[in-house]
Amino acid sequence: MGDDGKKNSGDGGLVKVEPKPSNGFTSKVIDLLEKLVVKFMYDSSLPHHYLTGNFAPVTETPPTKDLPVKGHLPDCLNGEFVRVGPNPKFAPVAGYHWFDGDGMIHGLRIKDGKSTYVSHFVKTARLKQEEYFGRSKFMKIGDLKGLFGLLMVNIHMLRTKLKVLDVSYGSGTANTALVYHHGKLLALSEADKPYAIKVFEDGDLQTLGMLDYDKRLGHSFTAHPKVDPITGEMFTFGYAHTPPYITYRVISKDGFMHEPVPITVSDPIMMHDFAITENYAIFMDLPLIFRPKEMVKKNTLIFSFDSTKKSRFGVLPRYAKDEKYIRWFELPNCFIFHNANAWEEEDEVVLITCRLQNPNLDNVGGTVQEKLENFSNEL
Ligand SMILES: [Fe+2]
Repeated sequence: MGDDGKKNSGDGGLVKVEPKPSNGFTSKVIDLLEKLVVKFMYDSSLPHHYLTGNFAPVTETPPTKDLPVKGHLPDCLNGEFVRVGPNPKFAPVAGYHWFDGDGMIHGLRIKDGKSTYVSHFVKTARLKQEEYFGRSKFMKIGDLKGLFGLLMVNIHMLRTKLKVLDVSYGSGTANTALVYHHGKLLALSEADKPYAIKVFEDGDLQTLGMLDYDKRLGHSFTAHPKVDPITGEMFTFGYAHTPPYITYRVISKDGFMHEPVPITVSDPIMMHDFAITENYAIFMDLPLIFRPKEMVKKNTLIFSFDSTKKSRFGVLPRYAKDEKYIRWFELPNCFIFHNANAWEEEDEVVLITCRLQNPNLDNVGGTVQEKLENFSNEL
């Protein structure tokens, strides 16, 4: 796919993230309201499993040189291993879900037979504002359950409408995955745009800003885009709560984002991953559905699985400019978070994936559950 003569700006559409929250009287009144709602509607005795033990939050670490090495690091090794994960800077007001934590990147720089460790938060618009207030202030997935969830959604809406919080830069955590494309390390969460991270020679990490591909990206961006190692292109999509529920995008090796391709599905689903082969993009229309009404009526999380609905794979020629070329294939009801790999064999597309029967996102919320059968994956 050529670039059709189109060019991006020198920085690839890097936006400086400078939110403008407001800490006045309105902010304090809403805090008080939130306190009352939590006091009367939330059971604070529930333990936060995902904030303890191995999941307990850690603080930032500046580059720490000359780590002890057991054995030997070959002199030819020169690079940095990086990973990102959820690590909340501030204690939650009420609920906490594993997906809620602020993105922290851990880096291990290896050079000249020596190693350096560093860890830094991704400086998201969300984290910057919570640092300004010195407390947790954004809505959490862990709170979005039952009538309490509805009230917490309304408190968040009040904060944004009355400009206590500035959501003009989104409200994502950049906590899910990293990808390297067009000379940039990107920290991703599927509800937001990518954050670009600078990697220094000594291994240190710094958030440069948010990437909007010269204003061409106006929707969320999956945490699991695919980079084609042969063409250098990146393939991605975003999902939304309003139509089009899914939007597919192709980004050239030079960082130019091509036109959006809306993909029609019947419900606002959570689509966490997809797949790419040499000629196709594979979408997964699976019934883990955004259902705020059900959240209140049935006391479920805001995304709930519908075991009565069909699951489908959509196979689209990967450079299609329109969804009319997509072919859907039905499969037994299931959910899939992650795909392992995909390829083509003659006229077949093969997808190796991790299938879940009847998933419940609440399993990685507040408390530990005794039985986790419905989170076992089947290849
Ligand atoms: Fe994932």
